Amino acid sequence: MNSGYVFQSAEEAKARFAGETEGYLYSRYGNPTVSMFEDRMALNEGSEACFATASGMAAMFSALMCFLKTGDEVVASWSLFGSCYHVFDQILPRYGIKTHLIEGTNIEEWKKYINKNTKCVFIETPSNPTMEIVDIEAVSKIAHQYEAKVIVDNIFASPVLQKPISLGADIVIYSGTKHIDGQGRSMGGAIMSSKKFYEESLKPFVRHTGPSISPFNAWILLKGIETLDIRMEKHCSNALQISNYLISNKNVEKTIYPFLTNHPNYELAKKQMLKGGSVVTFTVKNNNAFNFMNNLKLFDISNNIGDTKSLVTHPATTTHRVIGEEGRKKLNITDNMIRLSIGLEDINDLIEDLDSAFKHLE
Ligand SMILES: Cc1ncc(COP(=O)(O)O)c(C=O)c1O
Repeated sequence: MNSGYVFQSAEEAKARFAGETEGYLYSRYGNPTVSMFEDRMALNEGSEACFATASGMAAMFSALMCFLKTGDEVVASWSLFGSCYHVFDQILPRYGIKTHLIEGTNIEEWKKYINKNTKCVFIETPSNPTMEIVDIEAVSKIAHQYEAKVIVDNIFASPVLQKPISLGADIVIYSGTKHIDGQGRSMGGAIMSSKKFYEESLKPFVRHTGPSISPFNAWILLKGIETLDIRMEKHCSNALQISNYLISNKNVEKTIYPFLTNHPNYELAKKQMLKGGSVVTFTVKNNNAFNFMNNLKLFDISNNIGDTKSLVTHPATTTHRVIGEEGRKKLNITDNMIRLSIGLEDINDLIEDLDSAFKHLE
């Protein structure tokens, strides 16, 4: 933990600030603990560079704003986390950046909207909370014909399940708050990119705008990385079993999980993801969402995902409240939709808890 650094002489400080010698300057620019987190994230991802941020939204916003300017156009799939949707729908237009929010699962839409004015394409896959899968490889090919940068929000998959850079993406963003910490302790984020993008666009922007992570939080996330792989294994096996349980439950209208064969993008999910992830979304019959949630005992009502503990969320009134009724209609987020983040508990305990809450609806 530190903010500043001590130099042995005025000449040393001068040389370091001029970039003539290596070393730390100030913790908004860099810090040894943060560097260790960044190096390990980059190794995990297979990216040349990483910049760690204070939150996932700081990563998302910095990755965009470090190179976009007035007059640029962005194309994004409209199935997005509420705050990301708000950035595209409300904030970027204020700076004269035009955003096209499109149906990301339809490749023809990408072909229609990406053109020579497009500077950036943004994909969230799987999407929060509707678990839509966008073809990273196909969209990257279209975007690169026009030299547009492809940014992937890989938060739901984590670096363990999906490697967007190997599929053609230029930049990958994470919320460390989710699977990377995985234990509800710390906010954090990361931007993964090429060295060129980092040096030319990202570094000058983040150094002077200050989205940096605290060294203490970076240390927590470092501990998280050590168990990420085995936690993801258990998250995914529990989530798949819960999906199979929900699909045959008479109180459930629709179950959405990328590795269920009834998922509309099942083949694509299998192609670009190693496993289906920790999140299962479903719709409950008779608009009984609150009743169901209030009767769960093991699942906590919380809007995070990727935690060791199982969590339940009502997206329409929490994570996606900000996008309004119209926005939710477009994204197919209905009032009877429930998002489950499946933790690492014993699968029988989880199913028993769900079963018991469903019984209250009968
Ligand atoms: C898909 C997605 N992107 C971005 C974020 C933002 O991350 P953070 O909450 O760490 O800012 C979230 C958080 O819920 C998310 O689910």
